[in-house]
Amino acid sequence: MPVDVVGKVTEKRLVARDTIRIAIDAPEVAKDARPGQFVMICNTVPTFDPFLRRPFAITGAEWGRIELIIRVVGWGSALLANLSEGGEVRILGPLGNGFPDPKGGVILAAGGIGIAPLLFASRRWPSAELLYGEPSLDWVCDLSREKFCHFELSTDDGSAGEKCNVVKLLRKRLAASPLPVFACGPEPMLEAVAKACKRAKVDCFVSLEEHMACGVGACQGCAVLTKDGYKRVCKDGPVFDARKIEWGKR
Ligand SMILES: Cc1cc2nc3c(=O)[nH]c(=O)nc-3n(C[C@H](O)[C@H](O)[C@H](O)COP(=O)(O)OP(=O)(O)OC[C@H]3O[C@@H](n4cnc5c(N)ncnc54)[C@H](O)[C@@H]3O)c2cc1C
Ligand code: FES
Repeated sequence: MPVDVVGKVTEKRLVARDTIRIAIDAPEVAKDARPGQFVMICNTVPTFDPFLRRPFAITGAEWGRIELIIRVVGWGSALLANLSEGGEVRILGPLGNGFPDPKGGVILAAGGIGIAPLLFASRRWPSAELLYGEPSLDWVCDLSREKFCHFELSTDDGSAGEKCNVVKLLRKRLAASPLPVFACGPEPMLEAVAKACKRAKVDCFVSLEEHMACGVGACQGCAVLTKDGYKRVCKDGPVFDARKIEWGKR
């Protein structure tokens, strides 16, 4: 059940270029959160932006704290990234539907900031294998505090890990032994992941990103076309069965 609370930032660190990871004291949000769910969050300091709450995936929910990874792309994310330890934020969550419980092994495919919800998945389901791609080393999030049963990294320019994109890593992994896939990243990557999974005949669940205003299903601003008609990413997702998405259609 989502709650609307004020939480205190208890930890903040730079984990990659323009990317911070913060922990926020919010036991009411943390207790029910599951991988794939998100929060709508804003600074508590009044600003002139009426829609300042922005959606961010929950990266961790333990010991009464939630963790978020915030990549600065505009004004709202910059304000959040400028928060100091001890600063306060207003949080609405946990929101949306998360990933289903995997029945056995699962491959997590993360493109860019899509790593955020999949780190939570890798903690909740420790047998999950993580494949993670970024454009170059400076964008790769510091994951030195995480433990993975299997981890592969790729960068487009080859400055870290294998020189390729994460979809190529995934195709190779699926060719070795097929497993269901949970993915998060930019839409073209997710479409390519969905195709690779269809070819390998494995289930695929994707977490979609859309611009959001309300975050709770009221404004229809985040609608995506699926084989069952328009669905709201905030309320019916953000996690969808990839076979249901009408890729490239709005
Ligand atoms: C369910 C969900 C989970 C998300 N999880 C994370 C996360 O864990 N970490 C993270 O860094 N970001 C995440 N995002 C994206 C994040 O919400 C946006 O980057 C943020 O709202 C941008 O706000 P802004 O004011 O800084 O940028 P704006 O000034 O609003 O926009 C700057 C640029 O970012 C693009 N943009 C803005 N919002 C979105 C969006 N929702 N999806 C795609 N592009 C957008 C705009 O088109 C524009 O090009 C998530 C989005 C969704 C829907
Ligand atoms: S953001 Fe309002 S319905 Fe999804």
